[in-house]
Amino acid sequence: DWTSAHFVTDTVEALKKQIGDRKVIMALSGGVDSTVAATLIHRAIGDRLFGIFVDNGVLRKNEFEEVLATYDKIGLNVKGIDAKDRFYSELAGKTDPEAKRKTIGKLFIDVFQEEANKVQGVGLLGQGTIYPDVIESVSVHGPSVTIKSHHNVGGLPEKMHLELVEPLRYLFKDEVRRVGRELGIPSEMLDRHPFPGPGLAIRILGEITPEKVHLLQEADHVYIKGLKDNNLYATVWQAGTILLPVKSVGVMGDERTYEFTVALRAVTSVDGMTADWAHLPYEFLANISSEIINNVRGINRVVYDISSKPPATIEWE
Ligand code: XMP
Repeated sequence: DWTSAHFVTDTVEALKKQIGDRKVIMALSGGVDSTVAATLIHRAIGDRLFGIFVDNGVLRKNEFEEVLATYDKIGLNVKGIDAKDRFYSELAGKTDPEAKRKTIGKLFIDVFQEEANKVQGVGLLGQGTIYPDVIESVSVHGPSVTIKSHHNVGGLPEKMHLELVEPLRYLFKDEVRRVGRELGIPSEMLDRHPFPGPGLAIRILGEITPEKVHLLQEADHVYIKGLKDNNLYATVWQAGTILLPVKSVGVMGDERTYEFTVALRAVTSVDGMTADWAHLPYEFLANISSEIINNVRGINRVVYDISSKPPATIEWE
């Protein structure tokens, strides 16, 4: 009979046995899985766990600071690395979605490895792998066609030749959240929507510039804050804002404008494999649209994505 309390006790014991007096290094993403995995490892070995959280320049507004503050609150030993400029210069000129993903995945490994090398005598690599990741990474290597290469599984372990610590390897997402609650992890962390590893880079269609990232962060902040303030955030599986490479004509006062368009996306889903567009209230959409257009200079048009998956995907790239 599975209970989260038993899972925590048994897992912490098993981790102590596996790790002994060695050190563990781990990349944290600000997501549910890596946070819960790190908290379990921290229970077992304390500050011999060295966490690393990288600002890749395509996080949401204030996300780097807020996530680091939450780690601090939980008591995790996590170092924040500002690598924004390195990511922007590698991404410059890249427009193909898969090229953007590969660039981000590769640079992330480089940055992580550099930081790992600074910690003396690391013996193990912590990972927030959960059961669906295990299954999915098997099928990715099978005959099926890769539609989008997800970089959060694989990459790190092969390159680093470190023994793995994966305390969530046999859990499903809902079990991970239950374990997280048992561990006292705040709900602002446990109940976050999924967010892709390549972040806003795959929500800026075409070329990425720091200016476009800033525009999208501001528009997305209005949308996500609006969802939370109106108690809609928990009713959808995932939501996000997409910056389209399209300028259109508008009017502001008696001035003609020629600015960007953003698309709002919200879906309901169980596992992200299929998804329906969320029927958000018109009133809410109307308010978000005016708030974005009135407050985010550079955007003069807002549209709502009414496509389901399949045939559309959740992300636009
Ligand atoms: P799609 O767009 O394929 O997305 O319907 C399904 C889920 O996967 C997330 N996603 C990614 N996550 N790296 C990630 O870590 C990626 O490259 C990536 N692409 C899509 C997407 O946000 C959604 O939750």
